[in-house]
Amino acid sequence: VKTQVGIIGAGPAGLTLALLLRKHGIEAIILENRSREYVQSRVRAGLLEQNTVDIYKDLGVADRLLREGLVHHGVYLSFDGQRTRIPFGELTGGRNITIYGQQEVVKDLTDVWLAGGGQIYFETPALKIENFETNNPEIHFEHGGETGVLKCDFVAACDGFHGIGRKTLPPDTYREYTVTYPFSWLGILAHVAPSTEELIYAYHERGFALHSLRSDKISRLYIQVDNTEHIDNWPDDRIWEELSIRLGTEGWTLKTGPIFEKGITPMRSFFTDNMQAGRLFLAGDAAHIVPPTGGKGLNLAVADVKHLADGFVGYYQKNSAKALDNYSATALKRIWRAQDFSNFMTTLFHKQDQHGSFQYQLQKAKFDYIKLSKAYATTIAENYVGLPFEAFE
Ligand code: FAD
Ligand code: DHB
Repeated sequence: VKTQVGIIGAGPAGLTLALLLRKHGIEAIILENRSREYVQSRVRAGLLEQNTVDIYKDLGVADRLLREGLVHHGVYLSFDGQRTRIPFGELTGGRNITIYGQQEVVKDLTDVWLAGGGQIYFETPALKIENFETNNPEIHFEHGGETGVLKCDFVAACDGFHGIGRKTLPPDTYREYTVTYPFSWLGILAHVAPSTEELIYAYHERGFALHSLRSDKISRLYIQVDNTEHIDNWPDDRIWEELSIRLGTEGWTLKTGPIFEKGITPMRSFFTDNMQAGRLFLAGDAAHIVPPTGGKGLNLAVADVKHLADGFVGYYQKNSAKALDNYSATALKRIWRAQDFSNFMTTLFHKQDQHGSFQYQLQKAKFDYIKLSKAYATTIAENYVGLPFEAFE
């Protein structure tokens, strides 16, 4: 098999890249380890930045997103039961976020890619990437018990944190950074109308909680738990009770309903300071993980492939390898910003030390400052909705 750009991974990064390349007449084929059903039922993120929505509109894949996605113009922050609202519109010149589940994004992108004649080899793990230091890289894969080779001009490893792309980068080309946080998120989806029209991020002496949503009938909520916690220790009643205490504020009650999805996700920050070697390029979770507080993971993956697609367009259509050569440097500016913001949101709202400790007082001082300073609130708002691409140029 032969193509121009061989893409490993049919997550948000791989699918978005494929569609961006198609728009510019560049060929791509996607290899995906898992089945189509598995990829489309994987419940993960749900917050789309303005940039992400704009890219999907431009690609013509946003019909359902615009119909079913929920546009939010603000966010609630809560500390010790006191709630304040950050309005995006007036602080960011009208930018906002859209709530729409990642698995819906993946479904939409897959449908459009396949309907336009695109190919995805599902249940086809990439086994190794060879010759990426030459002009003829190869991706060796397995499909239905047989091995095969995808020959391409370039390899885009969009294969997530556990993929083979990063492991293939020569060790002397990058440094990596990892932080493991001493807590995890227990996330649920429930058949119940959201108890809020906008998201609520809360610090409470019992730990962090987040109220998000998926539709007017489905709520998505998270609580901070210890890394050693097991989901079996969390019957539905216990989860609702904890959520309602942590998110609570005077005169407000949390509506509860049947939980139909539960999972625990550990939290980490990870990143490499180089995302390319020869004709191999990494994008999305393959190159970096941010803790989920602030909802940056999916949006970073989309921003990476926007830059990568610009690089390929330069190479194939403008006879210039400059943007491709600078891909890592360009993408890393936003990645560092997102690492900092995700870390900021995580440390502000999670219980890290005893309630009342020095660390707690710093968290509280920040929260109090958000309420009195438009400048500080603006900093949070502009990072939360996502800085425009031009900001980093
Ligand atoms: P992925 O979505 O991981 O896609 C990579 C794809 O590559 C997968 O489909 C995988 O099957 C495939 N693959 C891997 N190895 C191979 C191989 N060898 N050959 C072929 N295919 C391969 N972000 C938030 O903002 N908020 C959240 O609440 C949130 N929750 C999360 C919960 C979980 C459990 C996880 C894992 C992530 C969460 N994230 C969240 C992060 C967000 O979902 C990711 O940042 C986003 O999925 C990144 O997209 P991606 O395309 O880079 O990687
Ligand atoms: C969601 C997840 C996040 O990590 C976040 O910061 C906001 C929303 C969500 O799944 O809806």
